[in-house]
Amino acid sequence: MEALLIKNGRVLDPASDLDQKLDILVVWGKIKEMAPEIKVDDSFLKERMMVIDATNKIITPGLIDVHVHAREPGEEYKETIRTVSRAAASGGFTTIICAPNTIPPIDNPWRVKRIIERARKKSLVNFFTYACITKGMKGKKVVNVEGIKREGAVGLTDDGFPVRDIKVMKEAAKLAKEFSLPICPHCEEVKGPFLLEAKLIKRYIRSVLRKIPTHFHFFHLSLKESVRLVAEAKREGLPVSAEATPHHFTLSEREKMGEKINPNFLMNPPLRSLEDVAAIREGLRENVIDVIASDHAPHTKKEKNSQHPPLGVIGLETTLGLVLTHLVKSKILSLKEAIRKMTINPAGIFGIEGGRLGIGLPADITIIDPDWEWTVKPNLFESKGRNCPFAGWRLWGKAVMTIVRGEVIMSRMEKIKGRFIPKDLKKS
Ligand code: DOR
Ligand code: ZN
Repeated sequence: MEALLIKNGRVLDPASDLDQKLDILVVWGKIKEMAPEIKVDDSFLKERMMVIDATNKIITPGLIDVHVHAREPGEEYKETIRTVSRAAASGGFTTIICAPNTIPPIDNPWRVKRIIERARKKSLVNFFTYACITKGMKGKKVVNVEGIKREGAVGLTDDGFPVRDIKVMKEAAKLAKEFSLPICPHCEEVKGPFLLEAKLIKRYIRSVLRKIPTHFHFFHLSLKESVRLVAEAKREGLPVSAEATPHHFTLSEREKMGEKINPNFLMNPPLRSLEDVAAIREGLRENVIDVIASDHAPHTKKEKNSQHPPLGVIGLETTLGLVLTHLVKSKILSLKEAIRKMTINPAGIFGIEGGRLGIGLPADITIIDPDWEWTVKPNLFESKGRNCPFAGWRLWGKAVMTIVRGEVIMSRMEKIKGRFIPKDLKKS
């Protein structure tokens, strides 16, 4: 469609502090106009224009999830670029940044290039990739940072594995600084007892950041002490940011304990105490935690039900509902602050386009129905993963349309035909 006219929505753009009822006109993939009442007279355009009635809907910049495991290459039985992008679109995300712990891992420039080329063909949403900090995520030899930057990686992480050797992290930090890439350490053990998080954050701040002040984005904070350390580093003026996942601000270790442990409550970092959950919420409220990201980590049922289940839970299709219900509705964050942590904050940290609405900018837009009450049914998800700890939860708020570069890639709205209609709508 050459043009879209989105009418009567509440346009919320934290980047420009906009919260107003406006129409938005999109022409050839870009935002052409934002005004209270747009009238299109051009008959050429009118003929090619889709009009969307967004009364009682919230229009935000396309949501960004900076922590997604797409599993391609190597584990396409768990997820593919195509299926993860459908899950993203269904959840209201126009942009994802994917982790490099694939098989083989994305640890050289050529693999960065390959994955981006593949995503260009397969992804419905804007697809970015991390590269590893170290070769094979083994924590020993730093990757070719210059090369991976040249090929388009937007950050460095050995997600899933900590970098224990401070000398290695310092070398990575020097290169990350030189080539302006955020470092996103995974500050936790690979196997229990899962006690490393705060210790490693402290060590990185003390021994790396204070000496080589380069951007550290701390993935998935889960402990009260971690929040305290990041708050302190920020007060000190160090270039740090942090993220939290929906499972860490909604679930505690108590929920995973049934008669037998449900493997869909096992992830890394693990669920913590109620006090930690409260600290994560407080960290979000106080802006110690800048970003909300899903850590979408699909695994098969068979793997999850095995003797040693792999860690991780899916999240692309529940994140927005959990944020709206458990942060906004429960008054921990205002809607604007919640959306900020899923749009302009992540875009700014990773230096990627998007996260804001404005004339002339690419039309990446999410339309949200804040009153849509729904029940989480993992069997209906677009993701191949079913490892969701929120099955049966009642949530308020859902993406009803996802627009990437002016194209409607997902719609739950009436009369928008010929678009990707999510499974849950087909079946309900
Ligand atoms: O729960 C997790 N799953 N944490 C990680 O760090 C890795 C991820 C995965 O790849 O499954
Ligand atoms: Zn992860």
